[in-house]
Amino acid sequence: MSEFIPMSRPYIGREEIEAVSEVLRSGWITTGPKCAELEEAFARLVGAGRALSLTSGTAGMHLVFKALGIGAGDEVITPSMTFASTVNQIVLAGATPVFVDVDYDTLLVEPSEIEKRITRRTRAIVPVHFAGAPADMDAIEAAAGDIPVIEDAAHAIGTRYKGRHIGWKNLAVFSFHPIKNITTAEGGMVTGTDDAFMERLRLLRFHGIERDAWKRYGKGSDPTYDIAEPGYKYNMTDLQAALGVVQLAKIDEINARRTFIAQRYLQGLSCVGGLDLPGLPAYDHTHSWHLFVVKVTSLGRPAFMEALAEHNIGYGLHFPACHTLSYVRELIGEVDLAATQEAAGKIVSLPLYPGMDDTQVERVIEVVREICR
Ligand SMILES: Cc1ncc(COP(=O)(O)O)c(C=O)c1O
Repeated sequence: MSEFIPMSRPYIGREEIEAVSEVLRSGWITTGPKCAELEEAFARLVGAGRALSLTSGTAGMHLVFKALGIGAGDEVITPSMTFASTVNQIVLAGATPVFVDVDYDTLLVEPSEIEKRITRRTRAIVPVHFAGAPADMDAIEAAAGDIPVIEDAAHAIGTRYKGRHIGWKNLAVFSFHPIKNITTAEGGMVTGTDDAFMERLRLLRFHGIERDAWKRYGKGSDPTYDIAEPGYKYNMTDLQAALGVVQLAKIDEINARRTFIAQRYLQGLSCVGGLDLPGLPAYDHTHSWHLFVVKVTSLGRPAFMEALAEHNIGYGLHFPACHTLSYVRELIGEVDLAATQEAAGKIVSLPLYPGMDDTQVERVIEVVREICR
């Protein structure tokens, strides 16, 4: 039997191991100069004024909702075809998620659907750059008017919309979970352009304490502090950031390999019956190919996944539609989302990671062709 091909695998080299070891030897392992370095590099990549490193993307969404004052009685518009973390944060804030349908081919939110769901209570709109393809931000911003748009950019490291990196304009939340295009083991980043707002997030990130701990403990520094508003404990460590700095420097190489693999899949699977391949947005964009999500249309999905497993090939499910999760159904009842529903029972993510060699890519193509035949 051929060797197992996982759905995803972090792309970690000697440089990452050396960078983390250096921090371990330095005597300062929590939030410090490495986090500052990662934030500066990330803000440069995105073209945003500020970037704030965190323990996860989920923590980022939590802080943004908190700083925007989103709570009971408020509504937040987001697709159901996304990871549950955003919906959890909406509900935990005391607000109500309002789901919008996606386009069946691209799985990206339909701006016209957003417009239809806006009410007096809408306090934020959270589009998702699904699988690394950008949502149609011009149309979404036009629909949003003055309502804040928070971009779920967990999949969008390296994604560009009409020539600009995702997150240069609106608040955007990125994730460095190990499956993502770059990783810090766990971690996230919020980017934004409003200095006062980003400063508020920085305080909320670490107990509400005004100065960074690494500056409080230096020689001759002032160890006192004050807290004007209580905060959380969402700071990234320098161990993680050191990993992130090296990973970020490789983003072009990583995404070029991901793109090559996705192109091979698109060619190699184009004539396979019973399989819908990911559709691409019609507008100018750069895809970061975080995921390669196919829809199994003839064979049932369980049989397709079972056959992949028999051939020693990994797969993923991104995502179970959020409006069908038990607690969400209890909270808001049935919702009619035709394209989401149609896609939700068929989607499967094929293996896609930069360390996949050409033989493994061709094996996946061969096996998928054979299963669908
Ligand atoms: C679409 C989406 N949003 C948000 C998140 C949350 O990111 P994190 O795992 O860093 O909290 C993830 C992934 O994990 C995701 O896929």
